[in-house]
Amino acid sequence: MLTIARADRVFILTGAGVSAESGIPTFRGVGGWWRDHRIEDVASPHAWQRDRRLVWEFYAMRRRVASEAKPNPAHFTLASLERDFEERLFVCTQNVDDLHERAGSRKVVHMHGELFKSRCDTCSRPPFEDTNLYEAPAEIPRCECGGWIRPHICWFGEVPFELDGIYSALDQCTLFLAIGTSGAVEPAASFAAQVVGHARTVYLGLEKPSNASNFRDCHLGKAGEILPGLFTILR
Ligand code: OAD
Repeated sequence: MLTIARADRVFILTGAGVSAESGIPTFRGVGGWWRDHRIEDVASPHAWQRDRRLVWEFYAMRRRVASEAKPNPAHFTLASLERDFEERLFVCTQNVDDLHERAGSRKVVHMHGELFKSRCDTCSRPPFEDTNLYEAPAEIPRCECGGWIRPHICWFGEVPFELDGIYSALDQCTLFLAIGTSGAVEPAASFAAQVVGHARTVYLGLEKPSNASNFRDCHLGKAGEILPGLFTILR
């Protein structure tokens, strides 16, 4: 059990494992995205310059998978925690799917971007909703400025989104819970080390992550099975 007091400020970091039971593959496990696709071919600025069609095919496929997925009990538990804790809960996800929102979460920081948003690769037009599944992407869409429309995703070599807000929430948190993330990708992999001096650090996932030494407790198992019964909230 994980006891949360009313005075706690809770920082939740989620990774691909939280959506695995919804049918969305993780990255590094068996059947993971990076087992069949090379990061340098589909998820880097260089890949975009070299073969935009291949990049869009990859993200169109991921849009199709995500659009067929449904939130699982882990997503619903976090949405319910938000209703209880309001501004004292900060949910930061590395996931680009929208399952937290579809479970009812209203304030989720997507540090690696959002699958159902696109933006221009040239001008400063803000990212926009884009649910196009690009069944047969004959043409890469273009912006009015002449630039190419790209997925609103943080690729390798790019800077994650909303880092100022994330670091401020990390400074303030008293409980840090990471769920379903292997601890392999920076900067999220260092968040636990950053808060371990002032917050309880807890991990929930199938196996110990690479950064396990920075967690005081590790609960091993499926997020959708363990998370709904994990919390005791002191009133
Ligand atoms: P990984 O694929 O690296 O790790 C997923 C973790 O979830 C693993 O530790 C699994 O053991 C665990 N897991 C699998 N099923 C689970 C379940 N049902 N319940 C709980 N845990 C489960 O994915 P991330 O750590 O999220 O970045 O990857 C981080 C980033 O690397 C991604 O956001 C992506 C990727 O490259 C970008 O694309 C920029």
